Amino acid sequence: MSIQLLDFHPDTTTHEKEVLAGLKKPQKELPAKLFYDDYGSQLFEQITDLEEYYPTRTELAIMQASVGEMASLIGKQALLIEYGSGSSLKTETLLQHLPDLAAYIPIDISREPLLASAERIATRYPALQVLPVCADYTANFTLPQPDQEVHKRVVFFPGSTIGNFHPAEAMLFLRRMRHVARRTGGILIGVDTKKDRQVLHAAYNDAQGVTAAFNLNILRRLNRDLGTDFALDQFFHDAFYDEVHGRVEMHLVSRKKQTVRLSDHPIHLDAGECIWTESSYKYTPAEFAHLAAQAGLRVARVWTDPDNLFSVHYLCST
Ligand code: AVJ
Repeated sequence: MSIQLLDFHPDTTTHEKEVLAGLKKPQKELPAKLFYDDYGSQLFEQITDLEEYYPTRTELAIMQASVGEMASLIGKQALLIEYGSGSSLKTETLLQHLPDLAAYIPIDISREPLLASAERIATRYPALQVLPVCADYTANFTLPQPDQEVHKRVVFFPGSTIGNFHPAEAMLFLRRMRHVARRTGGILIGVDTKKDRQVLHAAYNDAQGVTAAFNLNILRRLNRDLGTDFALDQFFHDAFYDEVHGRVEMHLVSRKKQTVRLSDHPIHLDAGECIWTESSYKYTPAEFAHLAAQAGLRVARVWTDPDNLFSVHYLCST
């Protein structure tokens, strides 16, 4: 059996200009997307198995507990479009309860993992048309045409990845998903909630140091891709919850006054100076409903776990 891949050849190179612009800012920063090279993606997989990292298993438990209701909201003959499908573990829970999908379109920037999981799903669900798309889902792309008639489009965006966008960008991204889903469609999206700061702190400062390794790996990637000379042992991982902004921030802190080179550009760091690598925004269900409303979306249904650690929302056009 062969699967047809629609390939937009997304640009996965590390751009010196973008990195330099971030490191020249008064508050130095690096884009969080740089975490996910092969090794970084492996480390992220490890994070999802950590005792302290509640989001992945909690979202899966919410999906398992309410998949019947989710499936009936999605309805018959829907086109299921998944953003950043990765290993598609949560999708399988859905697919088991959606025997009458028009087609499943997983979208991911990493071609090999995308094809591997598309093939696995096509084998397990022989009646389902699987149409993988290799693209950067934050850029423009078109969808492949399924053989069957489509009653509505549903965008599935799990994992709380929406939390990595600043709220204004998250709103714009929700608007784009609304356009992809069209007036009649829906968006099923995972969102991490506000909670006890100790729980948040532990989730991003695990005892085994996997999150620290994940954060530091960004410097290894820059050394490899751009020829910088970051000494990984001269930086340490720092993550904390900023209550004012409602976000966990991750930083890499310089252990000493040092100069790093990016081509012929010297980057000076003071002792204790930090490079901001990630924000992970947390929303109460009411706050997320407000953000969705700004994007022209209403919450048709929201599910949480008994401890309110995580939420899954089904959004429709207003
Ligand atoms: C994949 C963006 C949801 O923000 O919790 C995990 C990434 N960073 N540990 C998150 C992450 C540090 C994760 N997301």
